[in-house]
Amino acid sequence: MKEGQSSRTAEAAAALRANHFQNAENPVFSDPFAFELTSKGWKALLSTPFSVKVMNSSVFNRTFGLLTGQVVGRSRYAEDQLHAAIERGVAQYVLVGAGLDSFTLRQAQQYPQLKIYEVDHPDTQAAKQRKLRQYGALPANVEFVAIDFEKESIADALVRSSFKQGQAAFFSWLGTTHYLEPETTLNTLNSIKQIAAQGSEVVLDYSIDYRELEGLERLGTLFVSQFTRFLKEPLKGQFRPKTLHQAVEQMGYIVTEDLSGDGLSERYFHARPDHIRHTIATHMLHLRLM
Ligand SMILES: C[S@@+](CC[C@H](N)C(=O)[O-])C[C@H]1O[C@@H](n2cnc3c(N)ncnc32)[C@H](O)[C@@H]1O
Repeated sequence: MKEGQSSRTAEAAAALRANHFQNAENPVFSDPFAFELTSKGWKALLSTPFSVKVMNSSVFNRTFGLLTGQVVGRSRYAEDQLHAAIERGVAQYVLVGAGLDSFTLRQAQQYPQLKIYEVDHPDTQAAKQRKLRQYGALPANVEFVAIDFEKESIADALVRSSFKQGQAAFFSWLGTTHYLEPETTLNTLNSIKQIAAQGSEVVLDYSIDYRELEGLERLGTLFVSQFTRFLKEPLKGQFRPKTLHQAVEQMGYIVTEDLSGDGLSERYFHARPDHIRHTIATHMLHLRLM
């Protein structure tokens, strides 16, 4: 990330959620706050009839719609797993690399027993807190923890908060490992292992090696890599599923599920008339600590 600048990719992700919520029939993930949370530039684009028409055209949905699918698909998957974890009694939710995720606005009050930790880069977090202030006081069960993954471990950052190491927690880490060196991602998972109790869960998305992609998927990944480079958040992290599984299993995690892009399309985007689907360039990984 560029020093002193809040995450531009977080704004782009919020804009894609906003467009999906406002314009898709039967949204895969509904985020009524995403529009207000994104940047002025994205808001202008999402308020212009011509760009809205283009962004929701059949051609766009079949191409750039892969990006929308990735962004709404990962949030839907993570919150489905979160709700199952809450039913099992998990009472700590850690949003790692929270960006402009609006769970705090959407659901914090519904789950007063759930302690929510938003962990993010200080520049992104400061900008988000300014935006959240327009909604008044934040629910008492939300706490912000600043971190730069490249400089500090998540265990050290969470120690500064009220996070309870003896209680199981649910960690979601969405849209972030792509921008970190693979070593940083593995170190962060190892650090979660150090601080989280047995039974804790982690849901994250990761990119597979772009050389395994073909056609539109490969072109799409090249486009995203140029776009994120332009936003000063270049893509750095890719994994081979088998290698990643071996690495996390050695740390003490069980791989509960590794859902491919096709698996995500089948589960959440089946036979959509708007043709939005999930890219095969990223997977969702669900881990549990033994
Ligand atoms: C694409 S956004 C994803 C945000 C959100 N999870 C979502 O799904 O919309 C990437 C997030 O990673 C965070 N991030 C990137 N590099 C980071 C770093 N070195 N330390 C801490 N956070 C970082 C950014 O601040 C941003 O919130």
